[in-house]
Amino acid sequence: MRTALVSLASMLLLMACKHEPFVDPNGGTTGGGTTPPAAAVCFETDVLPLFIASCARAGCHDATTRAEGYVLDSYANIVKKGLKAGSASASKLFTVLNASGTDRMPPPPNAALTADQKKLIENWINEGAKNTTNCATATCDTSNVTFSKSVLPIINNACLGCHNNSLASGGYNFSSYTGVKASITAGRLLGSINYTPGFSGMPQGAKLSACHINTIRKWVDAGALNN
Ligand code: HEC
Repeated sequence: MRTALVSLASMLLLMACKHEPFVDPNGGTTGGGTTPPAAAVCFETDVLPLFIASCARAGCHDATTRAEGYVLDSYANIVKKGLKAGSASASKLFTVLNASGTDRMPPPPNAALTADQKKLIENWINEGAKNTTNCATATCDTSNVTFSKSVLPIINNACLGCHNNSLASGGYNFSSYTGVKASITAGRLLGSINYTPGFSGMPQGAKLSACHINTIRKWVDAGALNN
């Protein structure tokens, strides 16, 4: 059963990256947004997870497929092509987010990035496209953890690109509380984000910061409420 779901998910991944007539099965409602920190954007915790989840997927811009020569899975690769540090408007990596029809990235039928996610990439490029790391403590607060304010922004940024209404990788759709709860009920969420042996480490290739993992663990320990 799991194998069937996995191969279905990979098929969808491949299909999702072909340029096809626009059909948005989600009616454009997939996902929420994240508010970039008031301070400078953090590449490691905010920008990289978004690239991994939305762009560096199999059949798209992972190291194997390299669609149009773009590999968007690490800082070194992301700044190689289509990016002019200091100017989002002169950077293809940003302008394609607002392109029309099948030129838009991620291409239809994938949902477009949300306004907040586009803003995050725009700000990051305009701030010089820096490789900011170890900034988790500045941008991550583990007090008063709730689903909507603490957990959802992490999921939207780092997971939703591969776990949504049109692409429920591994059978998990995180576009609603119910979908996130299902992964906890199945006992798969914490093991996967901790890269525990026996689980598929999530997000693939870019472990969440310790602070983000802690945030999710705290919320799960407190009963994983829809709050
Ligand atoms: C680049 C795509 C991608 C991203 C980003 C991603 N996932 Fe996954 N996820 C998958 C795929 C594909 C599978 C199914 C195959 C597998 O288990 O490796 C999966 C499986 C899972 C599973 C089941 C794992 C298991 O061992 O049973 C969980 C839970 C999960 N993901 C949670 C998450 C969470 C939480 C995030 C964000 C923090 C996330 N994923 C980000 C692609 C992704």
